Amino acid sequence: MTWQATVLTLFPDMFPGHLGQSLAGRALDNGLWSCRTEDMRLHGLGRHRAVDDTPFGGGAGMVIRPDVVDAALAASQAGADVPRIYLTPRGRPLSQRDVRRYAASPGVLLLCGRFEGVDERVLEARGLEQVSIGDYVLSGGETAALVLLDACVRLLPGVMGSEDSGVEESFSEGLLEYPHYTRPAEWDGRAVPDILLSGNHAAIAAWRQAQAEEITRERRPDLWSAWLDRREKTGL
Ligand code: ADE
Repeated sequence: MTWQATVLTLFPDMFPGHLGQSLAGRALDNGLWSCRTEDMRLHGLGRHRAVDDTPFGGGAGMVIRPDVVDAALAASQAGADVPRIYLTPRGRPLSQRDVRRYAASPGVLLLCGRFEGVDERVLEARGLEQVSIGDYVLSGGETAALVLLDACVRLLPGVMGSEDSGVEESFSEGLLEYPHYTRPAEWDGRAVPDILLSGNHAAIAAWRQAQAEEITRERRPDLWSAWLDRREKTGL
């Protein structure tokens, strides 16, 4: 079955973007997923097809009208059974857990905002989850939508070789991954850690685990404390 992405946007030409290439591009060509856009401009009002208006209460910028979003939603014909997601820096942070849920759905519907945002009422009335891809502000939701789609598509059955699937498991354990090395064994005066050349698989696994813990503790104290809590609870 084809996983169906539906994107409501003012910039339909931005899709599938980089997802037309490499792993996701092959999967697209093979019909494992499909990307459909609904141009919100087509649902704009009047001779100029206006999609936005000034904010009630005053302030800078423009807000996308709820009636325009609703018309685009209706026209998109996205299934009632797919998660509806509005990409916004005001959203709940996207996690790998969300990505797994979206990838396990029949598809997703993504609403991309521009300007100051979208009228809150249509988000409430039509059940859109608000999701952010990180604590920084992009010029629009389109690049965030591409990020979310990239993360979902690589999890679809048949997209990734079985050799890569372990990578995903390692992140879902809650630690950052250990560092990687390949040939040459010495480069620019730097040697690969001896243990990796030892052929001792148990020792290598222990070293990698220790590295993963060290790096997580250093770089992501938030993930590290969550991991410690979980280890305590499960008694591992
Ligand atoms: N739109 C603008 N910035 C965004 C972000 N950080 N995440 C999701 N959508 C956005």
